[in-house]
Amino acid sequence: MPDWRSYDGVAETYERVHAPRLAEPARDLVRAAGIRPGDRVLDAGTGTGVAAAEAAAGTGDPASVIGVDPSLGMLAVARRVRPQVRVVAAAAIDLPFRDGAFDAVIGNFVLAHFTKYGTALHDLVRVLRPGGRVAFTAWADGRDELTATWLELAWSVVPRPVLEAALDDAIPWRDRFRRPEAIAEALSDAGLRRIRIDRRTYRFRYALDEYVEGLGTWATGRFVRSMLGEAGWTSFLARAREIFGERFADPLLDVRDVLIAVGVKP
Ligand SMILES: C[S@@+](CC[C@H](N)C(=O)[O-])C[C@H]1O[C@@H](n2cnc3c(N)ncnc32)[C@H](O)[C@@H]1O
Repeated sequence: MPDWRSYDGVAETYERVHAPRLAEPARDLVRAAGIRPGDRVLDAGTGTGVAAAEAAAGTGDPASVIGVDPSLGMLAVARRVRPQVRVVAAAAIDLPFRDGAFDAVIGNFVLAHFTKYGTALHDLVRVLRPGGRVAFTAWADGRDELTATWLELAWSVVPRPVLEAALDDAIPWRDRFRRPEAIAEALSDAGLRRIRIDRRTYRFRYALDEYVEGLGTWATGRFVRSMLGEAGWTSFLARAREIFGERFADPLLDVRDVLIAVGVKP
């Protein structure tokens, strides 16, 4: 396995299990960003290119959209599955683009990953033209039964403080950016104005096997896997499947709240 913090080793599963579902909020993100035909769009943390492809549908020209991501594994899948989307290996700091190069910058479930989010936002705003829009989605949900079951399982094999410390490393702002006022403050500090944040609920349906497999792609699953090794992970997943199967009807319904935040560069 590559470094557990990276999505490199889980890109194929991410694409199969999550990408089709995350396309729905990505579509709403593109709409909220007001993407129009002819716009030049940057998709920060593009992953397998889900939001970039939605943006390309909005601009009417795939060549006007660029996705950046530090995970080469995610980008390799993006190139294969969405060849119309142009992707570049880069993190959202020191972006390889000139000032004012884009009409819109979007990021689907990425903001909480930026270690130095102020610096990242500053650079994302730099590459935006005056009057351009920045838009992000972020998970806003609290503790539902599915998440509680998953954490209970994870804590049974990795002590909670160890897991929390690891997650602080991988997704440092996962709790902070569940709150709309924290996102508004970060966007405002980055110089954006006319900030608007909507909350939407999405209902994702998964077959039991698919849901359990998908758990391994999120940071908690990647860390647990790195701790257990492959044999331990396989038996852990079998136990997870059994427990989710006992507690929930198959297919599982995962109801998630998402914030969609937009700001304008003056
Ligand atoms: C939850 S995934 C979302 C991927 C994609 N936006 C989607 O909607 O499917 C988070 C992505 O952010 C990327 N990422 C993490 N840190 C980043 C950074 N500093 N700059 C840009 N992307 C980053 C990860 O590699 C990963 O592909």
